[in-house]
Parts: sequence; structure tokens; C-alpha cells
Amino acid sequence: MQELKDKFGRKITYLRLAITDRCNFRCQYCMPAQGINIVDRKELLSYKEMYRITRVLSELGVNKVRLTGGEPFVRKDFMNFLESLSFNEKLEEINITTNGALISSHIEKLETLNINAINLSIDSLQKEKFDKITRRTVFKDVYNSFEKLEKSKLKLKLNVVVQSGFNTDEIIDFVELSKDKNIAVRFIEEMPFNGKGQRDMNEVWNFNKINAHIKNHYPHIETVLSKKSSTSLNYRIPNYKGTFGIIPAFTRTICNDCNRIRITATGLFKNCLFDGGVFNVRDFLRNGASDDELKELFIDTVHHKPENGFIAEALRGVDVSESMSTIGG
Ligand code: 5AD
Ligand code: SF4
Repeated sequence: MQELKDKFGRKITYLRLAITDRCNFRCQYCMPAQGINIVDRKELLSYKEMYRITRVLSELGVNKVRLTGGEPFVRKDFMNFLESLSFNEKLEEINITTNGALISSHIEKLETLNINAINLSIDSLQKEKFDKITRRTVFKDVYNSFEKLEKSKLKLKLNVVVQSGFNTDEIIDFVELSKDKNIAVRFIEEMPFNGKGQRDMNEVWNFNKINAHIKNHYPHIETVLSKKSSTSLNYRIPNYKGTFGIIPAFTRTICNDCNRIRITATGLFKNCLFDGGVFNVRDFLRNGASDDELKELFIDTVHHKPENGFIAEALRGVDVSESMSTIGG
């Protein structure tokens, strides 16, 4: 079988696909208050195009897809797209990253589809702070979704972006959520991608600092073994039902085992979160490319995947400044 392998021997089996660049929140670490310049609708990949790209990639060994955004649930007919995607038997896992505001009415339907896990972004458990971070009054909706998801059959992971000066005082509260709930709480290092360049941080809450902070609070912490390609290093407090993990998103110590590629909402193919995009799949499709041509292009592009996120960033030449909503979280 043809497969996607880079020159460092890493096999690519995981696609992160952004459904839209639009979002109903304005998280301060992701966007400026007025939002980002969204693209014209016809520049977005259509569902048909996304379906085809995914199918072709699945024929090249991709067996896991994450649907991200922006916020995937703000795009019309997202549920129908999910349903068609879930018919692709080559996909062993379909995961969704969401801010939780619009998901709650879809949870029952999601349970019937072949969806593996929901990653819910939730950066504070306090209403006022949550509203400040997201610049919307949405805490109740998100918390509601959280409780509903937790009771559902879907696997649930929480994404917490650790923001200096905002929510570091809640790190232990978040770990405590794993006491009675079978969830995976994941702390993410904040990256300076907020649609307008570098963001000032009072203190750097990197992997080591988050880790030390938690270790300081608990006398015993067990290490949980995860898949080699996992982005988080995972732990458990003895006798707690759930786990917690830390994602070194910015310090990038996990690149060696990277198995992923990204496609943004406009069809930009990225070998790495930190690269500037390698080519536009959308244009290629719209110019009439055949499946075989697409495969050839994917195989060739993946071969040039940069060794790690630092090299990708350096090759790019300019600082990474765009919003995660454009990059495709
Ligand atoms: N740094 C770290 N994580 C971010 N996300 C969005 N912007 C940033 C950033 N600047 C996260 C969201 C969500 C995921 C898609 O990406 O909180 O959990
Ligand atoms: Fe929207 Fe996610 Fe960005 Fe927040 S972090 S504004 S929820 S895309």
C-alpha cells in the first residue's frame, strides 16, 4: 500500500482538518477583540472537498481525523458532514475539538455516530473569568455541555490553555475534576498565536512550571502510559477516576513522534503547526486533480515534513502570528 512517510521515518496517520475559520468566541489568546479577518465563504473547502481529501488520505494510511476550527459547530450542516465521514471504515477515530457552546443539542446524535472523543476547550471554572477569557457570556452554555458530555457515552477530554495571570490559580481545581469524573484534563502551554503577533506574558507557564506546580500540591502522582504519538504527557492522582496531562505545545518536545498533518479551512496543507503552509489542496482540487495526482502530491509533500517545530518556524522566515482559528487548532 502507498503510505505517507517523511524522511525521518515518521509515518503520517493523523489528519487535523479545520471545518471553518469562523468562531462564535473571541478568546483573548486566540484573537483580538474585534475578531480576525475571515475569508470569503467560497474560499472555504466545501464538505464535498473535505470528504474527498479525507478519503484520499485514508487510502494512504490516515486512520485518525480531528475536526477543528475555528469552531466546527458554527458551520451549517456540520452534523451531516460528520455522519458521512463516519461511514469511512478506514477511519478508526474521528475526534472533534469544540468550544462547547453549540454542541449540547447534538450529543445524542453524536453518540450514535462513530465518534471517538470530544475535546472541550474550557479555560476557567469561574463564570466571570470565563467570560473575560472568551469575551462572551457563554459560561453557562459551556458548563452545561460539559456536564452533558460527561454523562454521555462519548470520551471526554478537557483542553485548558494555561494563561499567566488568568487561570493558573485554577490548575489544581481542574486536576480535582478528575477525582470523580472519568475525563482527561489537559493543560496546554499558551502559544503566542493570537492574530496580531506576540502576546505579553508576565510569567512563562511552560511544561516544567505547570508540572512543578501540580507536583508541589500532590505527594503522589502516577505516570500514565500513552501512545507514542500522544501530544500530552499524562498522569493520574492515585485513586482518581480520570487523568490529567500537559501538552508542551510551545516548547515542542514531542516532535520526534509526530504523526500528523493539518489542513486549514481554506485548504492550506501544513506539515507542522509552525510552518506557513506548503500548498493549497483546494486550488489543486478545483483545477481538476485526479485522486492519483492528489496522492502523489501528498506523498511528496509529507516527505519534506520539517524535523521539528523549531526548524519549521525558522524555515518559515517570519514569526508565527496568525490566530489558531486560521491555523486550525
Ligand atoms: N495557545 C495555546 N492553545 C491555543 N488554542 C487556541 N489558541 C491557542 C494558543 N494561542 C487552543 C484552544 C483549543 C485548541 C483548538 O487550541 O483552546 O483548545
Ligand atoms: Fe474560538 Fe477556539 Fe479561538 Fe476561542 S480559541 S476564539 S473558541 S477558535
